[in-house]
Amino acid sequence: MKEGFFITLEGFEGSGKTTLAKIIYKTLLKNGLNTVLAKEPGGTVIGDKIRKILLERGNEGLGYKAELLLFTASRAENVRINIKPSLEKGLIVICDRYFDSTTAYQGFGRGIDMSVIDYFNNFAVEDIIPNLTLFLDVDTEIGLKRATMFHKNLELRFEDEFIQKKEVNGKLFLERVRDGYYQIARQNPERIKIIDANRDISMLTEDIIEILNLKLSEKFKRDIILKLHN
Ligand code: TYD
Repeated sequence: MKEGFFITLEGFEGSGKTTLAKIIYKTLLKNGLNTVLAKEPGGTVIGDKIRKILLERGNEGLGYKAELLLFTASRAENVRINIKPSLEKGLIVICDRYFDSTTAYQGFGRGIDMSVIDYFNNFAVEDIIPNLTLFLDVDTEIGLKRATMFHKNLELRFEDEFIQKKEVNGKLFLERVRDGYYQIARQNPERIKIIDANRDISMLTEDIIEILNLKLSEKFKRDIILKLHN
């Protein structure tokens, strides 16, 4: 039985997701709420090895099916070792990306059949579904510009798609991913909150704190008014 509260952050590259995950994590901790921060892919001994396979130069040619299975394997380990036990202890868990990333990138982006995606997502997470997902929606061009300023390794995975703007079934991969996220959000309006991430990070943080105050007050059945720490 899941007792804690599970928050995931989703969005395109350069949406500020990782920075915000850290701000939320610190804020919750400093407000006396026991919280753990997780990340995908990776976060476990095997998961980190899988992450390495996914990002290593030379592995760009990895097929879509194997890619899906590796992200799924990393998630299954993260759920088993970090996320599920923490939720069972009643903690708040924040995870930087989760199964919506697989639906958006491998499903909508790569074009793998959704029934296959759903099957593997369910297989990896079972009943560990987020209580709240913050979808940081950034314009793809702004996002790519921000992301390439930091140029992270894992972007190699989508180098052709991002840099050379490769099309999949007649539509840009990056647009397919973003539209995919919208569809996922529309199908899960209770769980997923869309945040306009084209704005300054301090404005995003304000919006997020407001959502968290509401959701956590509901969860813990007392008034929670978080004081920001970053
Ligand atoms: P990462 O370096 O963790 O960067 P960020 O999350 O800050 O963008 O890269 C994760 C990359 O892997 C990102 O391009 C999205 C992709 N990804 C998938 O394609 N499927 C998945 O299931 C997950 C978790 C990530």
